[in-house]
Amino acid sequence: MNDPLFPAAASHAQVTDRLGRPLRDLRISVTDRCNFRCVYCMPKAVFGKDYQFLEHKELLKFEEIARLARIFTRHGIEKIRLTGGEPLVRRNLERLVEMLAAIRGLDLTLTTNGSLLAKKAQALKSAGLKRITVSLDSLDDAVFMRMNDVDFPVARVLEGIDAAAAAGLTPIKINMVVKRGVNDASILPMARHFRGSGHILRFIEYMDVGHTNGWRMDDVVTARQIVAMIDAEAPLEQAAPNYRGEVAARWRYRDGSGEIGVIASVTQAFCRDCTRARLSTEGRLYTCLFATAGHELKPLLRGGASDDDISHALDAVWRQRGDRYSEIRTAATAGLQKIEMSYIGG
Ligand code: GTP
Ligand code: 5AD
Ligand code: SF4
Ligand code: SF4
Repeated sequence: MNDPLFPAAASHAQVTDRLGRPLRDLRISVTDRCNFRCVYCMPKAVFGKDYQFLEHKELLKFEEIARLARIFTRHGIEKIRLTGGEPLVRRNLERLVEMLAAIRGLDLTLTTNGSLLAKKAQALKSAGLKRITVSLDSLDDAVFMRMNDVDFPVARVLEGIDAAAAAGLTPIKINMVVKRGVNDASILPMARHFRGSGHILRFIEYMDVGHTNGWRMDDVVTARQIVAMIDAEAPLEQAAPNYRGEVAARWRYRDGSGEIGVIASVTQAFCRDCTRARLSTEGRLYTCLFATAGHELKPLLRGGASDDDISHALDAVWRQRGDRYSEIRTAATAGLQKIEMSYIGG
Protein backbone atom coordinates (compact mmCIF):
# COMPACT_ATOMS: atom_id res chain seq x y z
CA MET A 1 0.00 0.00 0.00
CA ASN A 2 1.03 3.61 -0.36
CA ASP A 3 2.74 5.39 2.44
CA PRO A 4 0.46 8.38 3.00
CA LEU A 5 3.45 10.61 3.60
CA PHE A 6 5.03 9.69 0.28
CA PRO A 7 2.14 8.97 -2.02
CA ALA A 8 3.11 7.40 -5.33
CA ALA A 9 0.50 9.67 -6.88
CA ALA A 10 2.69 12.67 -6.29
CA SER A 11 5.48 11.36 -8.46
CA HIS A 12 3.24 10.21 -11.32
CA ALA A 13 0.21 12.47 -11.35
CA GLN A 14 1.33 14.64 -14.24
CA VAL A 15 2.51 11.93 -16.61
CA THR A 16 2.34 13.08 -20.23
CA ASP A 17 3.06 11.22 -23.43
CA ARG A 18 5.54 12.09 -26.20
CA LEU A 19 3.10 14.63 -27.61
CA GLY A 20 2.51 16.27 -24.23
CA ARG A 21 -0.91 14.72 -23.65
CA PRO A 22 -1.93 13.78 -20.09
CA LEU A 23 -3.86 10.65 -19.13
CA ARG A 24 -7.44 11.52 -18.13
CA ASP A 25 -9.87 8.97 -19.45
CA LEU A 26 -9.86 5.19 -19.02
CA ARG A 27 -12.17 3.02 -21.11
CA ILE A 28 -12.56 -0.48 -19.79
CA SER A 29 -13.91 -3.26 -21.97
CA VAL A 30 -15.66 -5.84 -19.78
CA THR A 31 -16.49 -8.36 -22.49
CA ASP A 32 -15.67 -8.98 -26.15
CA ARG A 33 -19.14 -10.42 -26.70
CA CYS A 34 -22.24 -8.67 -27.95
CA ASN A 35 -25.82 -9.68 -28.69
CA PHE A 36 -25.82 -7.42 -31.81
CA ARG A 37 -23.87 -7.85 -35.04
CA CYS A 38 -23.69 -4.24 -36.23
CA VAL A 39 -22.43 -4.20 -39.78
CA TYR A 40 -19.84 -1.51 -39.02
CA CYS A 41 -18.48 -3.29 -35.95
CA MET A 42 -19.08 -7.07 -35.79
CA PRO A 43 -20.05 -8.15 -39.32
CA LYS A 44 -21.65 -11.61 -39.25
CA ALA A 45 -19.34 -12.90 -41.95
CA VAL A 46 -16.50 -12.61 -39.41
CA PHE A 47 -18.27 -12.76 -36.03
CA GLY A 48 -20.56 -15.65 -36.94
CA LYS A 49 -20.95 -19.02 -35.27
CA ASP A 50 -17.31 -20.04 -35.48
CA TYR A 51 -15.79 -16.89 -34.04
CA GLN A 52 -13.54 -17.59 -31.04
CA PHE A 53 -14.45 -15.25 -28.22
CA LEU A 54 -12.31 -15.09 -25.10
CA GLU A 55 -12.80 -17.78 -22.50
CA HIS A 56 -14.04 -16.76 -19.09
CA LYS A 57 -10.76 -17.52 -17.33
CA GLU A 58 -8.94 -15.14 -19.67
CA LEU A 59 -11.10 -12.19 -18.64
CA LEU A 60 -9.94 -9.90 -15.88
CA LYS A 61 -11.92 -10.48 -12.71
CA PHE A 62 -13.84 -7.53 -11.27
CA GLU A 63 -11.34 -7.35 -8.40
CA GLU A 64 -8.48 -7.12 -10.90
CA ILE A 65 -10.23 -4.40 -12.90
CA ALA A 66 -10.98 -2.40 -9.76
CA ARG A 67 -7.39 -2.70 -8.59
CA LEU A 68 -6.10 -1.43 -11.92
CA ALA A 69 -8.63 1.39 -11.90
CA ARG A 70 -7.43 2.52 -8.48
CA ILE A 71 -3.84 2.49 -9.67
CA PHE A 72 -4.81 4.41 -12.82
CA THR A 73 -6.35 7.17 -10.73
CA ARG A 74 -2.85 7.91 -9.40
CA HIS A 75 -1.94 8.93 -12.93
CA GLY A 76 -4.68 11.45 -13.44
CA ILE A 77 -7.68 9.37 -14.56
CA GLU A 78 -10.87 11.38 -13.97
CA LYS A 79 -13.36 9.40 -16.01
CA ILE A 80 -13.99 5.69 -16.43
CA ARG A 81 -16.24 4.41 -19.18
CA LEU A 82 -17.28 0.76 -19.23
CA THR A 83 -17.62 -0.65 -22.73
CA GLY A 84 -17.50 -3.97 -24.55
CA GLY A 85 -18.64 -5.60 -26.79
CA GLU A 86 -21.88 -5.01 -24.96
CA PRO A 87 -21.03 -4.40 -21.30
CA LEU A 88 -24.45 -5.39 -19.98
CA VAL A 89 -24.04 -8.98 -21.20
CA ARG A 90 -21.34 -9.46 -18.55
CA ARG A 91 -23.02 -11.03 -15.54
CA ASN A 92 -23.36 -9.03 -12.32
CA LEU A 93 -21.83 -5.94 -13.87
CA GLU A 94 -23.47 -3.94 -11.09
CA ARG A 95 -20.90 -5.45 -8.75
CA LEU A 96 -18.05 -3.95 -10.75
CA VAL A 97 -19.88 -0.62 -10.91
CA GLU A 98 -20.17 -0.68 -7.14
CA MET A 99 -16.44 -1.33 -6.75
CA LEU A 100 -15.53 1.48 -9.16
CA ALA A 101 -18.03 3.89 -7.61
CA ALA A 102 -16.11 3.53 -4.36
CA ILE A 103 -13.19 5.38 -6.00
CA ARG A 104 -13.87 8.97 -5.11
CA GLY A 105 -14.21 11.80 -7.62
CA LEU A 106 -14.65 9.70 -10.75
CA ASP A 107 -17.04 10.38 -13.60
CA LEU A 108 -18.32 6.80 -13.99
CA THR A 109 -20.25 6.01 -17.14
CA LEU A 110 -21.05 3.25 -19.60
CA THR A 111 -21.76 2.83 -23.31
CA THR A 112 -24.46 0.27 -24.18
CA ASN A 113 -26.58 -0.83 -27.11
CA GLY A 114 -29.58 -0.44 -24.81
CA SER A 115 -30.97 -3.93 -25.36
CA LEU A 116 -30.79 -4.93 -21.69
CA LEU A 117 -31.09 -1.48 -20.23
CA ALA A 118 -34.79 -1.52 -19.33
CA LYS A 119 -34.00 -4.41 -16.99
CA LYS A 120 -30.74 -3.06 -15.59
CA ALA A 121 -30.99 0.73 -15.41
CA GLN A 122 -32.15 0.96 -11.80
CA ALA A 123 -29.61 -1.57 -10.50
CA LEU A 124 -26.80 0.29 -12.29
CA LYS A 125 -27.90 3.58 -10.78
CA SER A 126 -28.15 2.06 -7.32
CA ALA A 127 -24.65 0.62 -7.73
CA GLY A 128 -23.31 4.13 -8.33
CA LEU A 129 -23.21 4.58 -12.11
CA LYS A 130 -23.52 8.30 -12.86
CA ARG A 131 -24.71 8.50 -16.45
CA ILE A 132 -25.07 6.45 -19.61
CA THR A 133 -24.59 6.57 -23.38
CA VAL A 134 -26.85 4.48 -25.61
CA SER A 135 -26.12 3.57 -29.22
CA LEU A 136 -29.07 3.86 -31.61
CA ASP A 137 -28.65 4.14 -35.37
CA SER A 138 -32.23 4.70 -36.56
CA LEU A 139 -35.85 4.98 -35.47
CA ASP A 140 -36.94 2.93 -38.43
CA ASP A 141 -37.11 -0.77 -37.57
CA ALA A 142 -36.13 -1.96 -41.04
CA VAL A 143 -33.05 0.27 -41.10
CA PHE A 144 -32.10 -0.44 -37.49
CA MET A 145 -32.44 -4.18 -38.01
CA ARG A 146 -30.32 -3.98 -41.12
CA MET A 147 -27.62 -2.32 -39.01
CA ASN A 148 -27.79 -4.48 -35.87
CA ASP A 149 -28.30 -7.58 -38.05
CA VAL A 150 -30.09 -9.52 -35.30
CA ASP A 151 -33.60 -8.13 -35.90
CA PHE A 152 -33.57 -6.13 -32.69
CA PRO A 153 -36.47 -3.64 -32.64
CA VAL A 154 -36.11 0.10 -32.00
CA ALA A 155 -38.88 0.15 -29.39
CA ARG A 156 -36.88 -1.91 -26.90
CA VAL A 157 -33.91 0.43 -27.09
CA LEU A 158 -36.26 3.38 -26.54
CA GLU A 159 -37.66 1.58 -23.49
CA GLY A 160 -34.11 1.22 -22.22
CA ILE A 161 -33.48 4.93 -22.71
CA ASP A 162 -36.70 5.77 -20.82
CA ALA A 163 -35.71 3.45 -17.98
CA ALA A 164 -32.29 5.09 -17.77
CA ALA A 165 -33.92 8.53 -17.64
CA ALA A 166 -36.34 7.39 -14.94
CA ALA A 167 -33.44 6.00 -12.92
CA GLY A 168 -31.60 9.33 -13.21
CA LEU A 169 -28.63 8.12 -15.30
CA THR A 170 -28.41 11.57 -16.86
CA PRO A 171 -27.41 13.37 -18.99
CA ILE A 172 -28.15 10.59 -21.47
CA LYS A 173 -26.25 10.63 -24.73
CA ILE A 174 -27.41 8.79 -27.83
CA ASN A 175 -24.72 7.68 -30.30
CA MET A 176 -25.65 7.22 -33.94
CA VAL A 177 -23.03 5.93 -36.38
CA VAL A 178 -23.90 7.20 -39.85
CA LYS A 179 -23.15 4.98 -42.83
CA ARG A 180 -23.92 6.40 -46.26
CA GLY A 181 -26.67 4.65 -48.12
CA VAL A 182 -27.66 2.68 -45.02
CA ASN A 183 -28.99 5.09 -42.38
CA ASP A 184 -28.35 8.61 -43.66
CA ALA A 185 -32.10 9.01 -44.22
CA SER A 186 -32.50 8.52 -40.46
CA ILE A 187 -30.47 11.63 -39.52
CA LEU A 188 -33.38 14.10 -39.59
CA PRO A 189 -35.96 11.80 -37.96
CA MET A 190 -33.48 11.07 -35.14
CA ALA A 191 -32.75 14.78 -34.70
CA ARG A 192 -36.48 15.57 -34.57
CA HIS A 193 -37.17 12.79 -32.10
CA PHE A 194 -34.51 13.75 -29.58
CA ARG A 195 -34.80 17.54 -29.92
CA GLY A 196 -36.39 18.81 -26.73
CA SER A 197 -36.02 15.45 -24.96
CA GLY A 198 -33.11 16.54 -22.78
CA HIS A 199 -31.01 13.74 -24.27
CA ILE A 200 -27.97 14.61 -26.38
CA LEU A 201 -27.88 12.98 -29.80
CA ARG A 202 -24.40 12.55 -31.25
CA PHE A 203 -23.66 11.64 -34.84
CA ILE A 204 -20.50 9.62 -35.39
CA GLU A 205 -18.59 9.47 -38.66
CA TYR A 206 -18.25 5.85 -39.72
CA MET A 207 -14.68 4.80 -38.95
CA ASP A 208 -12.19 2.21 -40.17
CA VAL A 209 -11.87 0.56 -36.76
CA GLY A 210 -10.65 -3.03 -36.78
CA HIS A 211 -10.00 -4.69 -40.10
CA THR A 212 -13.22 -6.52 -40.80
CA ASN A 213 -15.86 -3.90 -41.59
CA GLY A 214 -14.70 -3.18 -45.15
CA TRP A 215 -14.59 0.57 -44.53
CA ARG A 216 -14.41 2.94 -47.51
CA MET A 217 -14.22 6.71 -47.39
CA ASP A 218 -17.22 6.83 -49.72
CA ASP A 219 -19.36 5.36 -46.91
CA VAL A 220 -18.65 8.30 -44.60
CA VAL A 221 -21.21 11.08 -44.25
CA THR A 222 -19.17 13.96 -42.87
CA ALA A 223 -19.98 15.85 -39.70
CA ARG A 224 -20.13 19.02 -41.78
CA GLN A 225 -22.81 17.51 -44.01
CA ILE A 226 -24.80 16.30 -41.00
CA VAL A 227 -24.73 19.70 -39.30
CA ALA A 228 -25.75 21.42 -42.54
CA MET A 229 -28.67 19.07 -42.97
CA ILE A 230 -30.05 19.68 -39.48
CA ASP A 231 -29.26 23.39 -39.49
CA ALA A 232 -31.36 23.83 -42.64
CA GLU A 233 -34.38 22.57 -40.73
CA ALA A 234 -33.65 23.77 -37.19
CA PRO A 235 -30.96 26.48 -36.96
CA LEU A 236 -27.89 25.57 -34.93
CA GLU A 237 -25.05 27.49 -33.34
CA GLN A 238 -21.73 26.17 -32.16
CA ALA A 239 -21.26 25.65 -28.41
CA ALA A 240 -17.98 25.56 -26.50
CA PRO A 241 -16.57 22.17 -25.46
CA ASN A 242 -17.44 21.00 -21.94
CA TYR A 243 -13.82 20.04 -21.34
CA ARG A 244 -10.50 20.04 -23.18
CA GLY A 245 -10.29 17.14 -25.59
CA GLU A 246 -14.04 16.48 -25.75
CA VAL A 247 -14.57 14.09 -28.63
CA ALA A 248 -17.89 15.52 -29.78
CA ALA A 249 -18.18 19.03 -31.21
CA ARG A 250 -21.31 20.57 -29.67
CA TRP A 251 -24.04 22.37 -31.58
CA ARG A 252 -27.00 24.01 -29.86
CA TYR A 253 -30.46 24.63 -31.32
CA ARG A 254 -30.88 28.39 -31.53
CA ASP A 255 -34.39 28.15 -30.10
CA GLY A 256 -33.09 26.59 -26.89
CA SER A 257 -34.51 23.14 -27.54
CA GLY A 258 -31.29 21.31 -26.73
CA GLU A 259 -28.04 20.31 -28.38
CA ILE A 260 -26.49 17.74 -30.65
CA GLY A 261 -22.91 16.58 -31.05
CA VAL A 262 -20.86 15.46 -34.02
CA ILE A 263 -17.89 13.14 -33.71
CA ALA A 264 -15.71 13.77 -36.73
CA SER A 265 -12.82 11.45 -36.14
CA VAL A 266 -12.39 10.88 -39.88
CA THR A 267 -12.64 14.40 -41.30
CA GLN A 268 -11.51 16.47 -38.28
CA ALA A 269 -9.18 14.30 -36.23
CA PHE A 270 -8.93 15.10 -32.52
CA CYS A 271 -5.75 13.19 -31.66
CA ARG A 272 -3.97 16.32 -30.49
CA ASP A 273 -6.00 16.33 -27.28
CA CYS A 274 -6.50 12.59 -26.92
CA THR A 275 -6.16 11.64 -23.27
CA ARG A 276 -7.74 8.17 -23.54
CA ALA A 277 -6.31 4.82 -22.53
CA ARG A 278 -8.14 1.57 -23.20
CA LEU A 279 -8.07 -1.61 -21.17
CA SER A 280 -9.15 -4.78 -22.97
CA THR A 281 -11.24 -7.52 -21.38
CA GLU A 282 -8.21 -9.71 -20.88
CA GLY A 283 -6.04 -6.98 -19.44
CA ARG A 284 -4.12 -5.44 -22.29
CA LEU A 285 -3.55 -1.73 -22.27
CA TYR A 286 -3.99 0.08 -25.59
CA THR A 287 -3.04 3.69 -26.12
CA CYS A 288 -5.07 4.17 -29.31
CA LEU A 289 -8.38 2.91 -30.66
CA PHE A 290 -6.55 1.99 -33.85
CA ALA A 291 -3.62 0.22 -32.22
CA THR A 292 -2.24 -2.99 -33.65
CA ALA A 293 -0.70 -4.10 -30.32
CA GLY A 294 -1.28 -3.63 -26.60
CA HIS A 295 0.69 -3.93 -23.38
CA GLU A 296 0.02 -6.99 -21.21
CA LEU A 297 -1.01 -6.15 -17.65
CA LYS A 298 -2.44 -9.53 -16.64
CA PRO A 299 0.99 -11.13 -16.06
CA LEU A 300 1.70 -8.33 -13.59
CA LEU A 301 -1.68 -8.69 -11.88
CA ARG A 302 -1.42 -12.45 -11.61
CA GLY A 303 2.33 -12.61 -11.03
CA GLY A 304 2.47 -10.88 -7.67
CA ALA A 305 3.42 -7.36 -8.81
CA SER A 306 2.85 -4.62 -6.23
CA ASP A 307 0.67 -1.58 -6.90
CA ASP A 308 3.83 0.46 -7.31
CA ASP A 309 5.23 -1.98 -9.88
CA ILE A 310 2.03 -1.71 -11.89
CA SER A 311 2.01 2.02 -11.47
CA HIS A 312 5.51 2.26 -12.92
CA ALA A 313 4.51 0.06 -15.85
CA LEU A 314 1.55 2.32 -16.66
CA ASP A 315 3.73 5.35 -16.38
CA ALA A 316 6.30 3.88 -18.76
CA VAL A 317 3.67 2.93 -21.35
CA TRP A 318 2.10 6.38 -21.33
CA ARG A 319 5.43 8.22 -21.52
CA GLN A 320 6.39 6.48 -24.76
CA ARG A 321 2.97 6.94 -26.39
CA GLY A 322 2.98 8.76 -29.71
CA ASP A 323 -0.31 7.61 -31.26
CA ARG A 324 -2.23 9.88 -33.60
CA TYR A 325 -3.84 7.45 -35.97
CA SER A 326 -6.77 9.59 -37.13
CA GLU A 327 -4.38 12.34 -38.16
CA ILE A 328 -2.34 10.03 -40.38
CA ARG A 329 -5.13 7.83 -41.75
CA THR A 330 -4.86 6.90 -45.42
CA ALA A 331 -6.41 4.22 -47.59
CA ALA A 332 -3.27 2.18 -46.80
CA THR A 333 -3.46 2.50 -43.00
CA ALA A 334 -7.16 1.60 -43.13
CA GLY A 335 -6.07 -1.92 -44.14
CA LEU A 336 -3.76 -2.51 -41.15
CA GLN A 337 -4.48 -5.44 -38.78
CA LYS A 338 -5.97 -3.17 -36.11
CA ILE A 339 -7.72 -4.48 -33.02
CA GLU A 340 -11.47 -4.85 -33.34
CA MET A 341 -13.69 -2.26 -31.71
CA SER A 342 -15.83 -5.00 -30.16
CA TYR A 343 -12.68 -6.18 -28.36
CA ILE A 344 -11.49 -2.83 -27.11
CA GLY A 345 -14.75 -0.89 -26.90
CA GLY A 346 -15.74 2.41 -28.51
P1 GTP B 1 -18.42 11.92 -22.98
O1 GTP B 1 -17.71 11.32 -21.82
O2 GTP B 1 -19.87 11.96 -22.73
O3 GTP B 1 -17.83 13.19 -23.45
O4 GTP B 1 -18.33 10.83 -24.12
P2 GTP B 1 -17.23 10.45 -25.14
O5 GTP B 1 -17.53 11.21 -26.35
O6 GTP B 1 -15.85 10.51 -24.57
O7 GTP B 1 -17.45 8.89 -25.29
P3 GTP B 1 -18.23 7.96 -26.24
O8 GTP B 1 -17.87 6.60 -25.84
O9 GTP B 1 -19.67 8.24 -26.24
O10 GTP B 1 -17.59 8.26 -27.65
C1 GTP B 1 -18.39 8.30 -28.74
C2 GTP B 1 -17.75 7.70 -29.95
O11 GTP B 1 -16.66 8.51 -30.37
C3 GTP B 1 -17.15 6.33 -29.74
O12 GTP B 1 -18.12 5.34 -29.83
C4 GTP B 1 -16.20 6.27 -30.89
O13 GTP B 1 -16.92 5.98 -32.07
C5 GTP B 1 -15.70 7.71 -30.96
N1 GTP B 1 -14.47 7.86 -30.18
C6 GTP B 1 -14.37 7.93 -28.83
N2 GTP B 1 -13.10 8.05 -28.46
C7 GTP B 1 -12.37 8.05 -29.58
C8 GTP B 1 -10.98 8.14 -29.84
O14 GTP B 1 -10.16 8.23 -28.95
N3 GTP B 1 -10.60 8.10 -31.14
C9 GTP B 1 -11.47 8.00 -32.13
N4 GTP B 1 -10.99 8.02 -33.36
N5 GTP B 1 -12.80 7.91 -31.93
C10 GTP B 1 -13.24 7.93 -30.68
N1 5AD C 1 -17.34 3.72 -36.64
C1 5AD C 1 -17.82 4.59 -35.74
N2 5AD C 1 -18.31 4.23 -34.54
C2 5AD C 1 -18.36 2.93 -34.26
N3 5AD C 1 -18.81 2.28 -33.17
C3 5AD C 1 -18.59 0.95 -33.36
N4 5AD C 1 -18.05 0.73 -34.56
C4 5AD C 1 -17.87 1.96 -35.16
C5 5AD C 1 -17.36 2.40 -36.40
N5 5AD C 1 -16.89 1.54 -37.31
C6 5AD C 1 -19.45 2.92 -32.01
C7 5AD C 1 -20.88 2.47 -31.77
C8 5AD C 1 -21.04 2.69 -30.30
C9 5AD C 1 -19.70 2.60 -29.75
C10 5AD C 1 -19.54 1.40 -28.89
O1 5AD C 1 -18.80 2.54 -30.84
O2 5AD C 1 -21.83 3.22 -32.36
O3 5AD C 1 -21.61 3.94 -30.02
FE1 SF4 D 1 -22.27 -4.61 -30.38
FE2 SF4 D 1 -21.87 -2.01 -30.03
FE3 SF4 D 1 -20.42 -3.37 -31.81
FE4 SF4 D 1 -22.98 -2.94 -32.30
S1 SF4 D 1 -21.40 -1.36 -32.09
S2 SF4 D 1 -21.92 -4.88 -32.54
S3 SF4 D 1 -23.87 -3.03 -30.27
S4 SF4 D 1 -20.39 -3.67 -29.61
FE1 SF4 E 1 -6.77 9.02 -29.71
FE2 SF4 E 1 -5.94 7.20 -31.45
FE3 SF4 E 1 -8.44 8.20 -31.56
FE4 SF4 E 1 -6.33 9.70 -32.24
S1 SF4 E 1 -7.03 7.89 -33.28
S2 SF4 E 1 -8.09 10.32 -30.98
S3 SF4 E 1 -4.80 8.99 -30.76
S4 SF4 E 1 -7.56 6.96 -29.90
